[in-house]
Amino acid sequence: RKEKQELKEKIKRLLKEKNAVLVAHYYVDGDIQDLAEETGGCVADSLEMARFGRDNPAKTLVVAGVRFMGETAKILSPDKKILMPDLDACCSLDLGCPIGEFTAFCDAHPDRTVVVYANTSADVKARADWMATSSIGLDIVKKLHAEGKKILWGPDRHLGTYIQEQTGADMLLWQGSCLVHDEFKAAELAYLKKQMPDAKVLVHPESPASVVALADVVGSTSQIINAAKTMDAQTFIVATDKGIFHKMQQAVPGKTLIEAPTAGNSASCKSCAQCPWMAMNSLSNLADVLEKEQNVISVDPEIGEKAIVCIQRMLDFAA
Ligand code: 13P
Ligand code: SF4
Repeated sequence: RKEKQELKEKIKRLLKEKNAVLVAHYYVDGDIQDLAEETGGCVADSLEMARFGRDNPAKTLVVAGVRFMGETAKILSPDKKILMPDLDACCSLDLGCPIGEFTAFCDAHPDRTVVVYANTSADVKARADWMATSSIGLDIVKKLHAEGKKILWGPDRHLGTYIQEQTGADMLLWQGSCLVHDEFKAAELAYLKKQMPDAKVLVHPESPASVVALADVVGSTSQIINAAKTMDAQTFIVATDKGIFHKMQQAVPGKTLIEAPTAGNSASCKSCAQCPWMAMNSLSNLADVLEKEQNVISVDPEIGEKAIVCIQRMLDFAA
């Protein structure tokens, strides 16, 4: 406990000394989220992280999250120094969408507008027309569909299926998925709902369609927290990474939050609802990278110039 406190103080001091700002995602360690908030940084979903990083005047940003979040920050602010606690913190969606195969997929369907999820590499974004996050993907596709566009969507098939069902758009889907959200189980969730008929179900759209079908609200991490704040209910069953409970419980101290069932949270797989890559962010590697200014994110400037087009389109649309 004493060691933890010392690390937190050290991080605060280093952030100040280096004029750096900490940007954290809701899935990382709760202490890191608190530090981000206390020191003038932010805790946010992936769209808000991108916007915050772009608009903040600090010359150094420390992104506590996964690699695509650091890369997006760098693409939007090539002159800033972007540090990450662990450069190996990746994402199964990013890993499952290699640029060579994705390019071939796009080239085979030149009549389609390419919309990619934020959880992709800079290379994949450079090949796309639009980027979307879970909070705004539905609205972007709605707009493109209204303009008569056919869409090629990648990489998350669950989010793609959800958007397709909601909009009726013509969407060709890349078959990627998030290994965390893929684990939520509809039959067990339906059983839990029956036992708690007053509870509302909040689901991240990276979850399988059978789980999304049981949701009262489907949304990004920020939208899920907001739903818990604004909905007139006492109990919520939440299908997303368990890191979200930290800020969510602070936001609704009097309400009861329950983890949605996964294949393993009754048996061997205790951390099914915990992203292994988000969990690579710790107080000690955060202090370390700040002190040594290492783990610097770099994006090939030529790729960055192409990738910024689809990110900027999304941010302009979201504005
Ligand atoms: P959000 O945009 O909802 O924060 O999602 C990012 C993510 O990686 C969810 O798994
Ligand atoms: Fe990727 Fe899933 Fe982890 Fe989010 S929770 S970063 S989508 S693996």
